[in-house]
Amino acid sequence: MKALLPVLQLFILATFVATTHGSFELDIADQIIHLLRPKPGAGGRHVDDNVSCLSWRLGVETNNIIDWTTVPAACEGYVGHYMLGQQYRKDSEVVAHEAYLYAESQNLTDDGNNLWIFDVDETSLSNLPYYADHGFGVEVYNSTSFNAWVLEGVAPALPESLKLYKKLLALGIKVAFLTGRGEAQRNVTETNLKNVGYDTWEKLILKDSFYSGNTAVMYKSSERKNLEESGYRIGNIGDQWSDLLGTNVGNRTFKLPDPMYYIS
Ligand SMILES: *[C@@H]1O[C@H](CO)[C@@H](O)[C@H](O)[C@H]1NC(C)=O
Ligand SMILES: *[C@@H]1O[C@H](CO)[C@@H](O)[C@H](O)[C@H]1NC(C)=O
Ligand SMILES: *[C@@H]1O[C@H](CO)[C@@H](O)[C@H](O)[C@H]1NC(C)=O
Ligand SMILES: *[C@@H]1O[C@H](CO)[C@@H](O)[C@H](O)[C@H]1NC(C)=O
Ligand SMILES: *[C@@H]1O[C@H](CO)[C@@H](O)[C@H](O)[C@H]1NC(C)=O
Ligand SMILES: [Mg+2]
Repeated sequence: MKALLPVLQLFILATFVATTHGSFELDIADQIIHLLRPKPGAGGRHVDDNVSCLSWRLGVETNNIIDWTTVPAACEGYVGHYMLGQQYRKDSEVVAHEAYLYAESQNLTDDGNNLWIFDVDETSLSNLPYYADHGFGVEVYNSTSFNAWVLEGVAPALPESLKLYKKLLALGIKVAFLTGRGEAQRNVTETNLKNVGYDTWEKLILKDSFYSGNTAVMYKSSERKNLEESGYRIGNIGDQWSDLLGTNVGNRTFKLPDPMYYIS
């Protein structure tokens, strides 16, 4: 994967450079012109005349924009650049680092009851190779092709999360993975996690059919409640707000970036 990602990145960047206009500075200038004199076909960097893709992404990450189904068509290039470029990695690094500083500052009693919850997709594992291949915008999600990708079991680790995982273990904190992936994907998920460096965990909780029809917020809250009732004190990191909202969310929650999709 280490070898593959840069190749995908080059390919995607080449594609987007050919289809979208240049820099953020240009976007600002364009937006002003745009307001005065709308230019047909120049919407590549804006959701519409008043919302830039950067503002859209901020709205998404802060959970002000909710229940969206696809990246706005005009922002596909922007989101692709963000995800495959350095900014996504830098943003993830800040989140993981803050999570570590928090955990370290807690002077935790090492009684075996400190547990950190990691979501799986776009948190512990990255599906970027899939999205790099299929695109970041409208009509990207295809459950058939996405499940086929998951079943390959070759998703790389999000490096910043793997680093956090190792540092938390070194602090004596245990780890549980809590994922919307179903029980049918337990084996492949276990194998994938182990192959990329997540060597050990207390629990790998997958979405049992018991929860079918329920939101991720409900399912994950309920599973976290079970964990707390069995005595764990929890910290929590995920890429979706549904990983972090609801009940029993943990003493602190940490939100990784994900402008690619929204799960309620
Ligand atoms: C932006 O403008 C469009 C149409 O002009 C409008 O429908 C939309 O609500 C506006 N969005 C915001 C965030 O103001
Ligand atoms: C942890 O211990 C350090 C050093 O004794 C102290 O400065 C800090 O306030 C403690 N943190 C908490 C959350 O108790
Ligand atoms: C979804 O992916 C499958 C497998 O790659 C493909 O056969 C199918 O045509 C795709 N469906 C849509 C709606 O693109
Ligand atoms: C689990 O996955 C591994 C590797 O993908 C495979 O070798 C093994 O047969 C699978 N086991 C079961 C019970 O499906
Ligand atoms: C964490 O939250 C639990 C439950 O709300 C609380 O009892 C505990 O004191 C908190 N621990 C820290 C370190 O904040
Ligand atoms: Mg996720």
